[in-house]
Amino acid sequence: MNREDKERVIGKVVAINSDRFTVELLSGIDNFNISGFDDIHYFAQLNSYVVLPYQNYFIVSEVSGVREKELNVPFSNPKEQILSKITTGKYLEILPIGTLKPLDDNPNYYKFDFGVSVYPALYTDVLYIKEKELDAIFNVEEQIEIVCEKPNEHKEKCDCEKRRYKTLSIGTSTIFPDYEVKIDIDKFFAGHSAVLGNTGSGKSCTISSILQSIFKLSNHSAVGSTFIVFDVNGEYKQAFSEISENTDIEVNNFCIGSTEKDVQEFELPHWFLTIDEWALLLQATEKTQLPILRNALGLAAIFNSENDVKELKNHILATCISEILRDETSSPSKKDRITSILQKFNTEEINLSKEFSFIDDDGKTQKKIQIDRGYVLDINVRNCLTVHYGEIKGINQLISYLEQKNADATSVFIIDNFQMPSYEKYQKFNFNIIEDALDLALLYEEAHGNRHIRDYCSSLITRVKSIKDRNDFNFLKKDDGNISDYKNKLIGLNEVKSQKFKTSQITIIDISAVEDEIVEVISCVISRIIYESVKEIIPRNSYPVNLILEEAHRYISHNPMGTFLKANKIFDSIAKEGRKFGLLLLVSSQRPSELSKTVLSQCSNFIVHRIQNPEDLSHIRQITPHISETILRRMPSIPTQHALVFGHSVNLPTTFKVHEAKPLPKSDNNRISENWFRQKGFSLTENVETPDVEE
Ligand SMILES: Nc1ncnc2c1ncn2[C@@H]1O[C@H](COP(=O)(O)OP(=O)(O)OP(=O)(O)O)[C@@H](O)[C@H]1O
Ligand SMILES: [Mg+2]
Repeated sequence: MNREDKERVIGKVVAINSDRFTVELLSGIDNFNISGFDDIHYFAQLNSYVVLPYQNYFIVSEVSGVREKELNVPFSNPKEQILSKITTGKYLEILPIGTLKPLDDNPNYYKFDFGVSVYPALYTDVLYIKEKELDAIFNVEEQIEIVCEKPNEHKEKCDCEKRRYKTLSIGTSTIFPDYEVKIDIDKFFAGHSAVLGNTGSGKSCTISSILQSIFKLSNHSAVGSTFIVFDVNGEYKQAFSEISENTDIEVNNFCIGSTEKDVQEFELPHWFLTIDEWALLLQATEKTQLPILRNALGLAAIFNSENDVKELKNHILATCISEILRDETSSPSKKDRITSILQKFNTEEINLSKEFSFIDDDGKTQKKIQIDRGYVLDINVRNCLTVHYGEIKGINQLISYLEQKNADATSVFIIDNFQMPSYEKYQKFNFNIIEDALDLALLYEEAHGNRHIRDYCSSLITRVKSIKDRNDFNFLKKDDGNISDYKNKLIGLNEVKSQKFKTSQITIIDISAVEDEIVEVISCVISRIIYESVKEIIPRNSYPVNLILEEAHRYISHNPMGTFLKANKIFDSIAKEGRKFGLLLLVSSQRPSELSKTVLSQCSNFIVHRIQNPEDLSHIRQITPHISETILRRMPSIPTQHALVFGHSVNLPTTFKVHEAKPLPKSDNNRISENWFRQKGFSLTENVETPDVEE
């Protein structure tokens, strides 16, 4: 230890436990501060640091407790004028957090590494920390790489000075306000991260502030970045409203039911949904309803298909209509059902106007039938269905037409061992057809002896009907568009002559207008589509997309029920596999204990704001074993806009004050006193002061 270090000694280690040491301070130190060369150093502040020399480097420790203890000095007479101070000893509890090693090429500078695997000896000196060491801990030097934009053209001389930032300042240290807290851009944005905290603790502002900081970095632009925000509270449009000014950054705002000029209508065509997502949308139960739903969607897709699949269609129609003709319902009802089906689903061979001949009971082909009170020469399906005295006249004729055989005794329409075609996403069909397709699928099932299926599926039928009638599902009912344009737009690309160009960096999907159940469907489907798009990028993992999930506990819940499980699994898959393809999550939640454990366990960075709920606190304690108890105990009282950051992207867990978000997201606290104390009978539309956006 050199002379300068000797001057910094404040005490000695007097007890060593596995995770903490006790330091007894030197006797001359009265108020926990000491005058150094440069300044007066106060070292007894919780969460500040001290260093312990060990071999040729230092162990950095965090102060986690300060106490005084009565020494065993015999009671003295006040007349002896001994100050009470000397009767007490002063102690610090410290937690080892990392090491500071001198750089090989410049021993005056240090490198900080988080984690300690060695223990100091008893009576090791303890030193207050100096600035150079804090610089190393907070990694003060800005890491910027200057790169050439056009290396092929600028071989000889390059002055493009394009900057590539390695770190991003997100706030200032709470204990050392002169120090900025920085995250490693590669490590923060190339992994999954979580922002946690109670309502009003500052999560949305933190996310806004971080993104604003990225796009504020000068002489560059992060034009290659892609952020997609699930804005469940409609907050972010305001936060990013100025980001495009004087930058190359483009923001795409999508919203359900907004009439604002710069906002595009959010659409999610129903035919983009997978079978599991349909199950989530329709709340279908796994065992009975899911197979019927699958068949119904398969049928809807087939009957809208331009491909030549008439054999399939004929088989389904022949089977289902024969079933209706034979079942026990009344004739008028049979007629209505068959007419309704054939109006929507029909083929050249089986439709309402189809004229046909049939083999009569006597075995001869006959083309005449008595309809009503007269004779017609040709019969068609429609007049077979005419009801006369409460009875359908042509039941037998129609059945024999539908079930007719070829010369080789095979059926013309009915296919033996028929396999229902499977439903594939991205096949266009009209939303309104689903209700009838469901009826067709049920009939088909009934025709195969499953008589109770309609009862089991009643809730499914009701839900389809209700979605069809509800206006808040209009964003789904689109049968135009195309999936590849949709994918490109979502991830900020535009395709021209099979070449893709970057068009926007931030996509905000404002789903504040819809209910929770819809938020869940939209978030699952959109995340799955984004995941697919990112996987299609060549070369793999060359186009990072950061998905920001606000209020994630609302749709990535810890305990999803029944069928919802499968569709919800997309978040687990992204959490587990997304990193390899460049799809990274940033989840924000008030209730970490309600969030999917898989998702949370894959997060490598955490920004934790104030958390009061003991359940959530203990959850955080579980996921962050290296966080000291002192910091955790302070979590319930962290002020708004302050947070604890820990994980791969920072040197060490630190509490910090988040940079001001400017403009703020639209999430202000209510100004109660302003809104309460007003004129009698005031009008809501007059003189209402809308909360200011920070200038
Ligand atoms: N970084 C910040 N810059 C400026 N103001 C902030 C910041 N952080 C918090 N605030 C203040 O705190 C208020 C609440 O913050 P915010 O809306 O981000 O909370 P939240 O944690 O997202 O809450 P909720 O869970 O209800 O969405 C903001 O309206 C703002 O006034
Ligand atoms: Mg919020």
